[in-house]
Amino acid sequence: MAFSAIAQGETKMSIWGHTADGTAVPIYTLTDGQIEVRVTAYGAHLMSVKAPDRTGKLADVVLGYDTLDTYLIKPNPYIGAIVGRYGNRIAHGKFTLDGKTYQIPLNNGPNALHGGPKGFDEYVWQAKEVPGGVEFTHVSPDGDMGFPGTMSATVRYTLKGSTLHIEYTATTDKATVVNLTNHAYFNLHGDDQGNNLDQKIEIDADRYTPVDATLIPTGELAPVAGTPLDFRKPEVIGARIDANFAQLKIAGGYDHNWVLNGKPGTLHLAAIVTDPVSGRKLTVETTEPGVQFYSGNFLNGSFTGRHGVKYEKHAGFCLETQHFPDSPNHPDFPSTELKPGETMHSTTTFTFGVEK
Ligand code: GLA
Repeated sequence: MAFSAIAQGETKMSIWGHTADGTAVPIYTLTDGQIEVRVTAYGAHLMSVKAPDRTGKLADVVLGYDTLDTYLIKPNPYIGAIVGRYGNRIAHGKFTLDGKTYQIPLNNGPNALHGGPKGFDEYVWQAKEVPGGVEFTHVSPDGDMGFPGTMSATVRYTLKGSTLHIEYTATTDKATVVNLTNHAYFNLHGDDQGNNLDQKIEIDADRYTPVDATLIPTGELAPVAGTPLDFRKPEVIGARIDANFAQLKIAGGYDHNWVLNGKPGTLHLAAIVTDPVSGRKLTVETTEPGVQFYSGNFLNGSFTGRHGVKYEKHAGFCLETQHFPDSPNHPDFPSTELKPGETMHSTTTFTFGVEK
C-alpha cells in the first residue's frame, strides 16, 4: 500500500543508460497526486504509469521493460513507443504526393508499418523540461525512410492531476505525410497480472474502417452495428473476440481503426476502459479522427517485461489515436498531408480514475 509514496506535481530526470553509439538516455518521472508516469527520450517511449485501484493500491497499468537493452532489440512490438512518421500501415509502402511517387521500405509483409524499418521509436529524442512534464524533439531528415521533407516533430508529455496529456506537433520543409501516435499497451489489472480480456471497453464510434487480408483499409466506412466491433455500449473485450466474423479472423482479434464520432480537431471521447476487478478506469480523449484498438494479438511471449513477465497474447491492449491507416492512398479519408509553413497539432489525453 502506497498512499503517500508519490509526491505532488514534480518532474525528475535520471540517466538510464547509453545507446551503442554512446548517447546518454534520460528517463523523466512525472508525479502528480497518486499518479506516477515515466517516459524516456529513447523513442519518446511511455514506460510506466502507476495508478491506484479502488482501495488506493498502486499498480503499473502499462507494459514496459526494466532495461534499455530490451527496448533496443529490433524488431519489437512497439511497447510504449511513439510511432512515426506514419503510424500504422501504408499499402505497399507507396504513395503519391503532388505527382511524385514515394517508396517506404516494407517491414510488414507487403506493407510499411509505423514509419518503416527504422521509425521514430529508434532515436534518442532531444529532451527539455516544461511545466508539468517534458517535451521531446526529433528531426527526421529529408528522405528518411523514403519520406519527403525534413520533419521536426515534438511530443510533449505532461501530467495534470490524474490526466496524462500527450501533445504532438510536426513541421516540414517539403510537402509530406504525418501520423504520430503512442503505442502504449495497457492492462488495468496491472502489468504483471495476465491478460485483459475481462476488462470492459466502450468506443465512441458508429463506424470503422474494414481491412483486407494484409490489414489495409478497403476504403469503406462500415457501421459497427450488428458486428463484434460494436462497442458503443461497454462490452467485455474477450466476449466476442473469437466470433466467427471475417474481420476478427484476419487480425487474430481486434486490430482495427474506429471512426470516432467526435469532431476532429477538438478534444472528444475515444474510449473508456474499466476493470471490474480493480475498479481502475481509463478514459481516452483525442483531437484525432480515429483510434486503433489493438488487442495485443501478435504478442507471443518472446518479450519479457518488468517483474520477469513474458508478454503473451492479449497481455495488453493499445488505443492508438490516429488518422486512418493508409490515408495517403485514400483521398476520401481525413488528410495526413503536411505542407511547409503549416504545423500539425494533435492532443490525446489518458485519464486514470476508479469506479467504486
Ligand atoms: C499496430 C498494428 C498491429 C501491430 C502492432 C505492432 O497496432 O495495427 O497490427 O502491427 O501495431 O505489433
